[in-house]
Amino acid sequence: MAEKTTLSAIKADVGSIAGHQVVHPDVIEAARASLKEAVSLGVIEDFYVATAGDDLQLLMTHRRGVDNPKVHETAWLTFQRGTEVAKELHLYGAGQDLLVDAFSGNVRGLGPGSAEIEMVERPSEPVAIFMMDKTEPGAFNLPIFRIFADPFNSAGLVIDTAMHMGFRFEVWDIEEHRRIFLNCPEQMYDLLAFIGTKGRFVIKRVYARSNKVPKDEPIACISTDKLSQIAGKYVGKDDPVGIVRAQSGLPGMGEILEAWAWPFLVSGWNRGSHNGPLMVVGQKDNRTARFDGPPRCFGLGFQIANATLVKPPVDLFDDPSFEPARRQAAELADYMRRHGPFEPHRLPMDEMEYTTMPELMEKHKGKWEDVR
Ligand code: F6R
Ligand code: MG
Ligand code: MG
Repeated sequence: MAEKTTLSAIKADVGSIAGHQVVHPDVIEAARASLKEAVSLGVIEDFYVATAGDDLQLLMTHRRGVDNPKVHETAWLTFQRGTEVAKELHLYGAGQDLLVDAFSGNVRGLGPGSAEIEMVERPSEPVAIFMMDKTEPGAFNLPIFRIFADPFNSAGLVIDTAMHMGFRFEVWDIEEHRRIFLNCPEQMYDLLAFIGTKGRFVIKRVYARSNKVPKDEPIACISTDKLSQIAGKYVGKDDPVGIVRAQSGLPGMGEILEAWAWPFLVSGWNRGSHNGPLMVVGQKDNRTARFDGPPRCFGLGFQIANATLVKPPVDLFDDPSFEPARRQAAELADYMRRHGPFEPHRLPMDEMEYTTMPELMEKHKGKWEDVR
């Protein structure tokens, strides 16, 4: 049997310049040095250090499978090294996503986010990695649904025999810590009923139903770590990362990109407490600005070959065909901002990551008059 390859995308915000904007080049350098060491020690096969706004993204290939303690420890130590540099430079929020002092076997639950796929490499293995800043894991629900289940997005669902039988979705209920599997197209409406509530039900993985890849092998995986739930209080963002495999009976790269040509609304933005449009960006606009946003998505395309990442990657959204989406996102940002502190720009009370409500309730306790 062919040796399997694992692609791991593990990310954390370990500090940024100026405020919550971008990762400092010295932090990126420290991460590269750390992962280079991991290659020479034989822990991982290859890597690419990317960023998404203020998040450091470690993209690694290896032979050790998902949730591997050595790989996760490598990521953790790399984030720690980045944190040291961030502290020296007094970068903002140095070490903010490392919620505990000691690593214990797996980064899940410790602060960083991770998306990993173990696969039998196809003869040619194109992948896209999408990295979002200033939003939450559920922001992936809409584009992932459209890529794998919407025939108006992905032509292959109608005219490619392998895609025509549809895809299988693994959805996590991140409040009740349980999951469900739903097949499209038959259970599409059930799926939508859940994933429309994107703060609670999030697409974790997608599987093919054809024989183009093994049935138990994910073709897409999204990080679903929610920092606020891990710590039980606001400690930072839960900006997600997602991996999508492309072509040959799976959605083509063009169909995968098509899902982002329209700026849908996501939760996050300033203080993790606002709805706003997701703006897809190339490397040159890979940072947040206005009102700490609008929320961004940066994408890189690779080929995987014998557990290495063929470089340089493609800057997936650096294309004039995405200009209208960016322009529309900027216009929508304007529109949403004019609501100021009002919903639906500001999130509903129980979804806000910053709130003064408990203090206000206390302050005005006893002043409320009964109107029944
Ligand atoms: C952070 C983020 C920002 C901050 C905001 C306030 O990822 O989304 O919008 O929440 O800039 O940050 P503090 O409280 O650190 O000054
Ligand atoms: Mg930050
Ligand atoms: Mg971030």
